[in-house]
Amino acid sequence: MIKFKNVGKTFNGGVEALRDVNLAIEKGDIFGVIGFSGAGKSTLLRMVNALEKPTSGSVEINGEVVDTLSYDELRRVRKSIGMVFQQFNLLETKTVFENVAIPLILQKEKSEKIAARVKELLDFVELSDKAEFFPGELSGGQKQRVGIARALATNPSILLCDEATSALDPETTDSILDLLAKINSSLGLTILFVTHQIQVIQRLCRHVAVMEGGRVVETGTVLDVFGAPKEDITKRFVQTVIPDKLPETLRQDLKKDKRSFSILRLRFLGETTKENLLYKINTNLKLETGVLFASVTELQGEILGIFIIQVFGTEEKIKEAIDYIASFGVTSQEVIL
Ligand SMILES: Nc1ncnc2c1ncn2[C@@H]1O[C@H](COP(=O)(O)OP(=O)(O)O)[C@@H](O)[C@H]1O
Ligand SMILES: [Mg+2]
Repeated sequence: MIKFKNVGKTFNGGVEALRDVNLAIEKGDIFGVIGFSGAGKSTLLRMVNALEKPTSGSVEINGEVVDTLSYDELRRVRKSIGMVFQQFNLLETKTVFENVAIPLILQKEKSEKIAARVKELLDFVELSDKAEFFPGELSGGQKQRVGIARALATNPSILLCDEATSALDPETTDSILDLLAKINSSLGLTILFVTHQIQVIQRLCRHVAVMEGGRVVETGTVLDVFGAPKEDITKRFVQTVIPDKLPETLRQDLKKDKRSFSILRLRFLGETTKENLLYKINTNLKLETGVLFASVTELQGEILGIFIIQVFGTEEKIKEAIDYIASFGVTSQEVIL
């Protein structure tokens, strides 16, 4: 378990990179941190292996405060943490084999043991045939696989990923995210992934924290946060992958419509998606409805549905419909044109 307790960080020069950050990351979780550039994500991540130290508060791994460890204790803790970078950080003059071997050489392992472990790691990341290649001869995705193999070399229990897919095209990103999911499920590593790419959070993570100006402004399961984003910044991120707004042309048309109606945005999560809610509103409340917009997204194996519907009728009837919808556990929100 990784814990940030009231963590603050002010750099020399007065930049407040982190402000009162509190987070708990469970063992075996895939935890994503999303935020725009400068939000403090890398600073936060680098505190886990004490590359940065908090100005206030503390960071704990399994109950051990990492920022006050002695040099030897820190070496032990760092061995249990692997790190993956946006720009791969490979040594260009070393082969793939040699790059992956670096952490093991630093640990003074015997050469036979190193050879066996590197072979195993290259098999795992599906690069066995590239052992003697140099980084310059690899694609971005292959370079990141080398970076991941190197990060896994010392059998860590935690993997830190700093924008690990931000330099890759979407297809390669997906294959790297699949590899990370495999690392989590088959090796049981806890993964902390900081990124400005919401797609990464959507596809890979189980929990998410949203950062803005050094603060965590929202956190929870990906399903809950994506299903009902609260803060403006979270809404902005989530809307790019799960649109929930009416197209502008349609909005303008509706503004001119003189009939008596309300527009409601409904969010269905999980089982509630299967209710024939519109049909029930039509028949049980004798209300006419129309669908203006609908999207259905899979998140962590659950379904998130967003419907924007037009409900015709008097104010009273519409109020009745809102209560009826709520009785199914579906949240509705009136859309103001
Ligand atoms: N070593 C440093 N010295 C001074 N300011 C820094 C240093 N590292 C980061 N910062 C500042 O801290 C803030 C957060 O940076 P960072 O953690 O890199 O954000 P992110 O990874 O979300 O882009 C930024 O304003 C950045 O300029
Ligand atoms: Mg960063």
